[in-house]
Amino acid sequence: MNRFRRLRVSPQMRRMVRETKLSKSDLIYPLFVEEGQNIKTPVQSLPGIYRYSIDRLDDILQQISKSGISGLIIFGIPAHKDDKASCAYDDNGVTQNAIKYIKKNYPELIVIADVCLCEYTSHGHCGIVSNNKILNDETLPLLAKMALSLAKAGADIVAPSDMMDGRVKAIRKILDENGYIDIPIMSYSAKFSSEYYSPFREAAESTPKFGDRKTYQIDCANSREAMREILDDIDEGADMIIIKPALAYLDILKSAREICNLPIAAYNVSGEYSMVKSAAKTGIIDEKRIVMENLLCIKRAGADIIITYHALDAAKWLNDEEKQ
Ligand code: PBG
Ligand code: ZN
Repeated sequence: MNRFRRLRVSPQMRRMVRETKLSKSDLIYPLFVEEGQNIKTPVQSLPGIYRYSIDRLDDILQQISKSGISGLIIFGIPAHKDDKASCAYDDNGVTQNAIKYIKKNYPELIVIADVCLCEYTSHGHCGIVSNNKILNDETLPLLAKMALSLAKAGADIVAPSDMMDGRVKAIRKILDENGYIDIPIMSYSAKFSSEYYSPFREAAESTPKFGDRKTYQIDCANSREAMREILDDIDEGADMIIIKPALAYLDILKSAREICNLPIAAYNVSGEYSMVKSAAKTGIIDEKRIVMENLLCIKRAGADIIITYHALDAAKWLNDEEKQ
């Protein structure tokens, strides 16, 4: 008989033989910044998450800085939306100004800038629309302009999440041509069309006004197609890739780990967060235990980095464990 229980006898023994570890440096916190003044609005669909105007950011930035996590991914919500997503690539746009503010005052934080048009378009789609179609090639120059503008503002990493074909190449080209050779691209390579994004769309005001995102985001039935997307993004020059969502897609994460040597980030998305928060609120589950289990399992499946709304709570819990 094999005695597996020998290595499970005490917390010390279990800790020593643990195969996977979660660290504060693995974590990235999503931050919503809204145009305007004196705003700190709770997001109803994401308990504990707020939308801030730039003048109210200090409180959360100090928390992020003290927490020991690596940094944040920023989503801007402009006051003005139009069919060309003008504010997305305005050097004085809300996202650009927020990045300038953060990098000036909190240079130690890694700032990842999400590159996508949906928060900036009047119709809420991630690309340019004509006759109810989302145009691919016409969208690429705008995404490239947006990435350049975010890099100019001081973003450490740009993260295209639009799922247009060819965008990594277009972004790499414009960054290089303008001297931003050292700005990495973290590409949302395997971004599935998912109901798990619904709470985010309320936070970012980015729900499409017609149709859905199924003509550009990956069908949740497809794993092999996701691997083709990843290999193609690597070919186009991606430095890191993102798998999104995370928990229902751990098989994708595992397969990605096998075919790819780049750092992999998993995006533990809004719906995953809100479901945990709802269940915890009713007392059905213990929030801390379920969150720490979920995050560790995402790492076990192959993630190096986890983007999660739980990041600040998880950092606190990791600190508590260290003190024990
Ligand atoms: C923008 C974007 C989305 C998310 C990140 N970037 C939403 C979408 O594709 O509709 C989702 C994040 C989350 O649900 O937490 N394209
Ligand atoms: Zn989008």
